[in-house]
Amino acid sequence: MNSLDQDRAAVPTSETRDGGASQDGERPARFLLDGEARRWSRLIDQAESYEVLQRTLEAKSGPHTVIEGREFVVISAYDYLGLIGHPLIDAAAARAIEEFGTGTGGVRLLTGTNSLHTELERDLAAFKGTEAAMTFSSGFLANIAVITTLMGPRDRVILDECCHRSIRDACRMADASVVRFLHNDVADLEKKLRQPARGRTLIVIEGIYSMDGDICPLPEIVEMKERFGAFLMVDEAHAIGVLGPTGRGTQDHFGMPSVGVDIWMGSLSKAIPASGGFLAGDAALIRFLRYVASPYVFSAALTPASTAAARAALEVMLNEHDRHRRLADNAEFLRGSLNRMGFDTGTSTTPVIPVLLRNEEHTLRAARTLFEAGILATPVCFPAVPRGAARLRLCASAAHDRDTLDVVLRAFAALTPA
Ligand SMILES: Cc1ncc(COP(=O)(O)O)c(C=O)c1O
Repeated sequence: MNSLDQDRAAVPTSETRDGGASQDGERPARFLLDGEARRWSRLIDQAESYEVLQRTLEAKSGPHTVIEGREFVVISAYDYLGLIGHPLIDAAAARAIEEFGTGTGGVRLLTGTNSLHTELERDLAAFKGTEAAMTFSSGFLANIAVITTLMGPRDRVILDECCHRSIRDACRMADASVVRFLHNDVADLEKKLRQPARGRTLIVIEGIYSMDGDICPLPEIVEMKERFGAFLMVDEAHAIGVLGPTGRGTQDHFGMPSVGVDIWMGSLSKAIPASGGFLAGDAALIRFLRYVASPYVFSAALTPASTAAARAALEVMLNEHDRHRRLADNAEFLRGSLNRMGFDTGTSTTPVIPVLLRNEEHTLRAARTLFEAGILATPVCFPAVPRGAARLRLCASAAHDRDTLDVVLRAFAALTPA
């Protein structure tokens, strides 16, 4: 059984999951009595007993927050550039609400498009160096949109084994045949490309892998896709704002033109402190998707506040270069210090820093120990990562100062490396 099948077996089916929803909010026990649901309930009980997941923040996220009235250091937020609460971005969002209100009142195809959307999409295309871009209400939906619209049962998607869940769900929805290649292994990708396919082949990779914090070998993969006549999509959810001298992403990191990649996908909820997602590519492709992709045609447009915040964030990113340098320095310092203390940070070379503790119980307990020391660090267990690969997933930010990182490192000194 490959790991995709394992996911399938582990995740509740529509019968166990949706069939259980009760109208009055009571626990619908009789729908949760099959073995699979019980196994999930046990996992949830175990995770909940440590009280480290779904904690309610009582202030904005960023390097610090407040939980139950107490100040916490946040060391797992996606706020890579420290832009949450940036005055120019907050002001742009507030102005957008004054001018356009809080909702769009429609989907983009009908009455939901306003000038904020068209301006943001123009800026995103310029940012990624493509002809056009389009936005969605989440990055997850952008992945679902492009793969389900372009790929079908005759087609093949070859994806890196560490690709995000939204990409894997999209492949299932598209009913395309799915082949995985070993993580960042170009020779294995070549082997998979050599296997005959009936229809088109789409290769899907990520700029920065969200759980491991390493970077895809883009130049080699572009060469490979051209040699085999395949298409290439790159998910830049964690690369936007992080890679390249001004945060434009993986193509700038390698000094390559954008055109070698057919579809760029990004999120507006990580280094960009808003919510939403986008696709960028050539004009004909984006025009087609605007009429045919279900999550665009049948779901509400991005809100005015998020749209304006995302646009302002692009401008801040391009103007405040110092943030990129501080982010890189902090990531280097945090990873290097953890390594010297004996912690394994895997293949990470970016601000996404997994601390591999491997055992799930040990990882949850470690997150609890850090929580008690006033540090919010995310434990990541199966099924987000394979069994035996549990980790604390840390994210460095340009907004962390050295004193804050020292507090984090002192708390890690109380933990046992794997
Ligand atoms: C690699 C990757 N792709 C896509 C997404 C989904 O993006 P969003 O949170 O904007 O829906 C995520 C979210 O964490 C991600 O890590």
